[in-house]
Amino acid sequence: MYGDYDGLNKPPIFDLYLGVNFWKTVNISKPDAVHVAEVIAVVPDDSVQVCLVNTRSGTPFISSLELRPLKDTLYPQANATQGLVLVGRHNFGAADLIRYPNDTYDRVWVPYTNPEDQWTTILTSSKVAMEVEDRKPLYDVPSVVMQTAVRPSNTTRNVMWFPWDAEPNHVYPMPGLLPVFYLAELETVDGKQERRLFLISLKRPNSSASWLIGDFDYLVTTVVSRTTGRPVPFVSPKENLVILGAANATTLRPIMEINSTILPPFINAAELFTPISTAGVGTDPQDVSAITAIKAKYQLNRNWVGDPCAPKNLVWDGLNCSYPISRPQRITSVNMSFGGLSGDISSYFANLKAIQYLDLSHNNLSGSIPDGLSQLPSLVLLDLTGNKLTGTIPLGLLIRIQDGNLTLRYDHSPNLCSNNSSCQPTQENRNSKTTGYIAVVVVASVVVVALVVLLLFFVIRRKEEPANIHNQEGDVQSRNRRFTYTELKVITSNFRRVLGEGGFGPVYDGFLEDGTQVAVKLRSQSSNQGVKEFLTEAQNLTGIHHRNLVSLIGYCKDGEYMALVYEYMSEGDLQHKLRGRDRNDGCLTWRQRLHIVLESAQGLEYLHKACSPPFIHRDVKTSNILLDANLKAKVADFGLMKAFNQDGDTHVSTARVVGTPGYLAPDTYALQVRDSPRAH
Ligand SMILES: *[C@@H]1O[C@H](CO)[C@@H](O)[C@H](O)[C@H]1NC(C)=O
Ligand SMILES: *[C@@H]1O[C@H](CO)[C@@H](O)[C@H](O)[C@H]1NC(C)=O
Ligand SMILES: *[C@@H]1O[C@H](CO)[C@@H](O)[C@H](O)[C@H]1NC(C)=O
Repeated sequence: MYGDYDGLNKPPIFDLYLGVNFWKTVNISKPDAVHVAEVIAVVPDDSVQVCLVNTRSGTPFISSLELRPLKDTLYPQANATQGLVLVGRHNFGAADLIRYPNDTYDRVWVPYTNPEDQWTTILTSSKVAMEVEDRKPLYDVPSVVMQTAVRPSNTTRNVMWFPWDAEPNHVYPMPGLLPVFYLAELETVDGKQERRLFLISLKRPNSSASWLIGDFDYLVTTVVSRTTGRPVPFVSPKENLVILGAANATTLRPIMEINSTILPPFINAAELFTPISTAGVGTDPQDVSAITAIKAKYQLNRNWVGDPCAPKNLVWDGLNCSYPISRPQRITSVNMSFGGLSGDISSYFANLKAIQYLDLSHNNLSGSIPDGLSQLPSLVLLDLTGNKLTGTIPLGLLIRIQDGNLTLRYDHSPNLCSNNSSCQPTQENRNSKTTGYIAVVVVASVVVVALVVLLLFFVIRRKEEPANIHNQEGDVQSRNRRFTYTELKVITSNFRRVLGEGGFGPVYDGFLEDGTQVAVKLRSQSSNQGVKEFLTEAQNLTGIHHRNLVSLIGYCKDGEYMALVYEYMSEGDLQHKLRGRDRNDGCLTWRQRLHIVLESAQGLEYLHKACSPPFIHRDVKTSNILLDANLKAKVADFGLMKAFNQDGDTHVSTARVVGTPGYLAPDTYALQVRDSPRAH
């Protein structure tokens, strides 16, 4: 109720949204009236946002919000793509409101006013039962609502009508109509049940909105509605009249043999809905959690509420999104230029995996540029102009610049490694003279850097010392951290969400302190992979880094607890992808499949050729190939990996056959069975 609380005497008009879907326009026409909006909808997620949207016609307000769970069989018309907005819930012949506890779902049944005493109330004290359809409790109206009804006072009149007020709005200029009528015979004549037959229709009887009903059971509710098909078409507002009329006996004779008087119509209760689409999907959940964390970090004053990208006309200030059909929206650009931001650059920016433009210019940002930004596959512009950044520019970004894929602007940042004295090398760069050197040069001239980087790779290639590459990448990226079991408990919120199950044990979802999403592989007691395999995997991985190998972030060896902490791969494993675990997943295209094959092979080639000593994985299968948000493939699960002789001997001798039956090359399998008496 508005009640002129702000003293402006201007009742507002605003929009309501359920999640990203338009629900209704609230038009506070009477300041002292209580306005109630009700929608019955299927909520697919754990939570739902209710948004009050300012449409420049006054400030939205809300006095209370109630949520009630319903059985999903209660209203079959409400489904994943259609919600029901209540227009009216009428209880005919009633004196008082009926709600909980009489209605277990706390629906509010409002007495319907009798127009000019045209109607007579019919009452019963006997319970009215529900019609049971296929044993499913459809609709389920409380008996007390059904125990009152009305019929025309003048028994010679055989028509009753009541208006139906479905207000058009800017989203639904012609709202559809979905009525549910509840009828139960409450009268008997000399202990014999009356026989009735009548027609329910909208004002235009020859429209599709007509129901011919009759022959009601005594004290049993009959529900008249449409469970399938399209809603009743829109008739112009204020003309939507529901008419109950006794049918003409003569015309009905071919349908039913009725010779007695046809008695007047009656009605006990009705619910009137107008359907809305709830098919709209919101922003990708990973993007939502990243941008929400960014909003929290910088304590932004902007009106960043609701879903970031949807609805399209209410996208957050400074954001641009892509709107793929029937898939979640992605954030493609963030412009926080002149945003008054201070502190360091949030590492959450690196979680906006579809971002192309990131403009953080003219803020008060300090600290170094997060390395993670170089992992953003679509980033083409990074504007850091006019900040107080320090440190070196991450090598990954320099390579992207050199490849011509990225424009980096950072001019008025005097401390960003512009010369040797003001350059503050960060921890990870201190060991790597090469990176430091490159960063110094790049400030002088990007062209020169390009040459140096090229030259560097060229030299490495020429020397053909794979171990060298290994070491350099290791120096730059190896920051493996040792976790305690308690830390893991915090990271995984007490091992709340299981991502999957490996040979080693369950894999849990987790977040590091900086918000990086990780996968925590905890060794289970019943694991058939032992301590030895665990240590093998941990040791092997600390030194290995390749874009097509899942990288290890850290490990835990805390008493009996052992765990490995990996980067998070949002698209799961290839096996599930190929099998289509998720109904929403489309098929992988041939192009994507080829990419996955090629990338997996590159990961393996790195193990075979570039590592010193070389490794063989020994358990290559689809469930050990993981996919990131961009379907980039990375080989995982190194528990059975083994180093082989360094002297160029390509014969691989292992003590026993390992791996997964069915994925082992048959000739290798045969060879090893022969070689090893212990093989199974
Ligand atoms: C709001 O209600 C008033 C009074 O009923 C009406 O005149 C006006 O057109 C409505 N505005 C909108 C936007 O629906
Ligand atoms: C009802 O029946 C009478 C004849 O008994 C007929 O004249 C009249 O047209 C019928 N009305 C309708 C609506 O069918
Ligand atoms: C960001 O917004 C500012 C103005 O607010 C504009 O000058 C700048 O070009 C925008 N940046 C991008 C990348 O669009």
